[in-house]
Amino acid sequence: MSPEIKKKAVFLDRDGTIIEDRGHIGNPNEIRLFPETVPALRMLSNNYLLFIVTNQSGVAQNIITKKNVDDVNAKLLEILSECGISIEQVFVCPHGKDDGCVCRKPSPFFLRKAAKEHGIDISSSYMIGDHPSDIGTAISAGANAIYLLSGHGQKHMGELPENGFQILPEILSAAEWIVKKDEISKIYGSEYSRTVESAAEKLRDGGIGVMPTETVYGLAGNALSPDSAAKIFDLKKRPHFDPLIVHVASIQEIQSLAIEIPDAAMRLLRRYWPGPLTVVLKKSKVIPGIVSSGLDTVALRMPRHPIALDLIRKAGFPLAAPSANIFSMTSPTCVENLSPEIAAGSDFILDGGKCQFGIESSIVSFENPAEPVLLRPGSLPIEEISETAGISFKIHEDNGNGKILAPGLLKKHYSTATKFELAKYNRVISPEIRSRSAFISFDGADVPEGFLAVETLSITGDMREAAARLFDSMSKLDRMNLDFIFAGDAPQHGLGLAINDRLRKAAGKG
Ligand code: TXA
Ligand code: MG
Repeated sequence: MSPEIKKKAVFLDRDGTIIEDRGHIGNPNEIRLFPETVPALRMLSNNYLLFIVTNQSGVAQNIITKKNVDDVNAKLLEILSECGISIEQVFVCPHGKDDGCVCRKPSPFFLRKAAKEHGIDISSSYMIGDHPSDIGTAISAGANAIYLLSGHGQKHMGELPENGFQILPEILSAAEWIVKKDEISKIYGSEYSRTVESAAEKLRDGGIGVMPTETVYGLAGNALSPDSAAKIFDLKKRPHFDPLIVHVASIQEIQSLAIEIPDAAMRLLRRYWPGPLTVVLKKSKVIPGIVSSGLDTVALRMPRHPIALDLIRKAGFPLAAPSANIFSMTSPTCVENLSPEIAAGSDFILDGGKCQFGIESSIVSFENPAEPVLLRPGSLPIEEISETAGISFKIHEDNGNGKILAPGLLKKHYSTATKFELAKYNRVISPEIRSRSAFISFDGADVPEGFLAVETLSITGDMREAAARLFDSMSKLDRMNLDFIFAGDAPQHGLGLAINDRLRKAAGKG
């Protein structure tokens, strides 16, 4: 008889995690799902049973009734079910903080109950929430803990235990994290820690190597070592006037790397790190000149890929990591797209699967705190960044004086070996040329007849999907020995700005 295979579960806090925290909600009309909730729960429900575990002390305080809470939960389940998401069970603690009940989070009571009744393996399950009590619950039950910065997350940061949990911006990034962790354990099995430790050791010995991030793969080396940085510039054939991004594993680490962290910059880091946002700040003396190309600023970023964070922590120092491509070529979004030269010159290659964003981080500069500038559009839409920082960013434009502020300033970048052109500048493309060329289309709506190959980035016009597939499509077409690759435009807003930027630069029209 085969042993019973135990199921995995994700336990979700309710207020501030899957719906907006609007105080003690007693009326179903007050439910406001976060925009990220439905895609996140859909993603998780492929492999996990979903539960909601919520403290509703408003009942004990007579602000709302138990019936109010039940009505709200019934409505929430109905809304989710209409989106194809089923929640196994909702666990409610209606008691107050001082009631001495057994079920109020951080008690692991409901997680243990669910485990027993549904046959769940707690150690491969997760609890996600925006309050330290959610983390306490997970830790005492033996589940994996994810703390969100949505809801009241940022407010209670100071009350968290020292370690034993992962901080992430919101519910969708948590779902992507869980899916990525599962992918990693499929790739490495029990060899994971040993593999990352051995890469970290090579970094400590002055080596450089390929690490995955959520945006694109990076070519990483010790950011505090001029020798390691020099190796990166050499292998990438990157000109020394183009500075490197320094990757950290916590916000605290930047205190020693940057001087003067403006409030607006801090607000952004607190909300989006770990994630695809790079900030340029005045640098401290510990950053070698070669890393910042002699500028008095440094670009800093905390990546969201579990392997990147583990590698930085294990190495024990920040990692300088430009995209792992030969200078001016397309950035790799999977190990299969690494160029043979980069692969051969690396001391290690860590496979982290496909990059979830597929386009580089957005770079904002606070060099002049009074006038923050968007240097490179990237995976985090500028509209979102502006709202969080409460400031409008100046969009950097090439002023033609030749001063390099970001890689994007180089007119030709992110390119293919095959000639790359924007379709809008090529009104007439002859049938002969079409028969030996490819077309990259944003959503398939603008594809002319007769091309040998067509890559549609997202049939549904989804920006995230399109961005994630862009470099992969370019690399794939580049291997086909075509005459030309032509590309249409993406809509010019949100991530479309970053997609169009990469297409323009690939065509040398930066
Ligand atoms: O998503 C990403 O940011 C990826 C992954 C690997 O983290 N990295 C990446 O690095 O795209 P890279 O080197 O390909 O592009 C970073 C750009 C550089 O080209 C550089 O011009 C700009 O960031 N940069 C770095 N330091 C800067 C500074 N101090 N001031 C202005 N721009 C800077
Ligand atoms: Mg690059």
